[in-house]
Amino acid sequence: MKPDRIRLGVNIDHIATLRNARAEADPSLLEMAFIVQEAGAHSITVHLREDRRHIQDADLPELKKHMKIPINLEMALTREMLDNALAIAPKSVCIVPERRNEITTEGGLNAKTNIKKLREYTSILQNAGITVFPFINHDDDQLQVCADCGVDGVEIHTGHYARSFFEERAFRRELTLIHSAAEFCLSNNLEFHAGHGLNYQNIEAICQIENLVEVNIGHAIISHSLKVGLFQAVKEMKGLLQ
Ligand code: PXP
Repeated sequence: MKPDRIRLGVNIDHIATLRNARAEADPSLLEMAFIVQEAGAHSITVHLREDRRHIQDADLPELKKHMKIPINLEMALTREMLDNALAIAPKSVCIVPERRNEITTEGGLNAKTNIKKLREYTSILQNAGITVFPFINHDDDQLQVCADCGVDGVEIHTGHYARSFFEERAFRRELTLIHSAAEFCLSNNLEFHAGHGLNYQNIEAICQIENLVEVNIGHAIISHSLKVGLFQAVKEMKGLLQ
């Protein structure tokens, strides 16, 4: 069978949000993660936030113990999260900026102002066998800093791209900038990932990027799952990743 060209990471934070709303065990994060796995996702993405608004500390060892597909941990660039990552040893981490009052990750990491820490944490994580992907905007300076820090690749923030979907000019501009970020990655030996705001409509143009290796998608899949079920929602997205 032909291997899938683009890997799908499913972000399951929203399932934890629903569970936490009642502070009970339902829906079971693990049970839902099994469905995501069964439907063919390549990895599970979770973001352990400083305020623990969705994923809880106890979720991580549980997922790590029972899942066959890899865990991608989104983490802020803090000592606490570094220690958590080292304790859990996910396959990869995505280093994200974190602001307490934001609804979701609202922008890319400023790798430039965090260069010292990014370099130090990258080396610590890689020595522990964990691959490192900063979540950044499609900005030449940010890409260069990431390359200089020796990261394995980057996840490009597609939030602006997603929001501009119905404005032809802005959409074309965003897409061009994402393409040039992908070209930078190709020539600098960085793996290219994309995520944030991707959905069943806007994914098609992103899939045209030849060196796109992975997308991480949460909100669109979990929302669609309310209509068609989680298994079907993951399957449909997988079907679009060609
Ligand atoms: N990638 C990163 C780094 C994120 O922070 C998020 C949101 O948690 C996603 C991908 C998924 O974004 P969405 O839920 O909009 O698909």
